Amino acid sequence: MTLPTRSPDFMISERLASEIARAATRVIDARSVVALTGAGLSVESGIPPFRGPGGLWTKYGEPPLDGYQRFLRDPKQAWQDRLSPREPWARALAETLGTAKPNAGHHALVELEALGRCDAVITQNIDDLHRQAGARELIEIHGNHKLLRCLGCVARFAPGELAIDPEALPPRCPRCGSVVKVDIVHFGEPIPADVLRRCHAVVERADCMLVVGTSATVYPAAEFPLEVLRRGGSVIEVNPEPSEISDLAELSLRGPGGAVLARLVELVSRARAGSVQ
Ligand code: APR
Repeated sequence: MTLPTRSPDFMISERLASEIARAATRVIDARSVVALTGAGLSVESGIPPFRGPGGLWTKYGEPPLDGYQRFLRDPKQAWQDRLSPREPWARALAETLGTAKPNAGHHALVELEALGRCDAVITQNIDDLHRQAGARELIEIHGNHKLLRCLGCVARFAPGELAIDPEALPPRCPRCGSVVKVDIVHFGEPIPADVLRRCHAVVERADCMLVVGTSATVYPAAEFPLEVLRRGGSVIEVNPEPSEISDLAELSLRGPGGAVLARLVELVSRARAGSVQ
């Protein structure tokens, strides 16, 4: 017996259905659930992952790991590259980011939050899709491609809040005069302290972490599920393929994020409404 899903080409097997039911029980019984998401969650929105089959780094090679130092050395050039990307991976990513919409997985996490069963979403994605889906307690640990951030006072600027004049690059902060960059955290750049503080605050309280669509290879984000496990909590992975956290996860739900999370939330919602299948 298989269950239809909103991902037309993915059917939930009986085995996966029973694992999702176990995960739903875990989520219902948890004191505090936090979700950690990665590029895999946005694959069903048409944005390629970075690693593995169809990954941007797989296709174009990993970018230099000193992106931030390059920005600091020549912010004007870095901004010119941002306004008209030269790197093929940057062009490919920009194209998909411009048109992508949240999928069933993003919406399921918003629903889980509304059910009081998800206290925060920490995302490694810079694609703004959790925000567009309506996530409330959202922490974008690698920044957001639509926002700008001042390197001095760490002020953030929403689209349209700060005019970018291609003749006067790099843009300067209207508050402190420092250089402003896109909010995306480049390779080699420290995670802004305020963001990291928020991550630690929610991770410290969590006794259950949903790890969705990430290879769990990039730190400090990959440390968070380990922290939950060290404190005796549980990790539930959602990923069609094994990742660095698979061996430590209590449950690995092998399917696409959209389909699996939608099913998980359906069960949690039913349980909340008093009738568990
Ligand atoms: N649903 C869920 N997971 C999926 C799906 C899907 N539909 N499709 C692929 N995946 C999984 C892959 O199996 C892989 O384990 O998503 C994962 C994507 O891994 P990465 O491409 O490594 O992405 P991520 O873990 O988010 O990368 C972390 O690395 O390059 C940096 O800054 C970048 O934030 C990024 C960070």
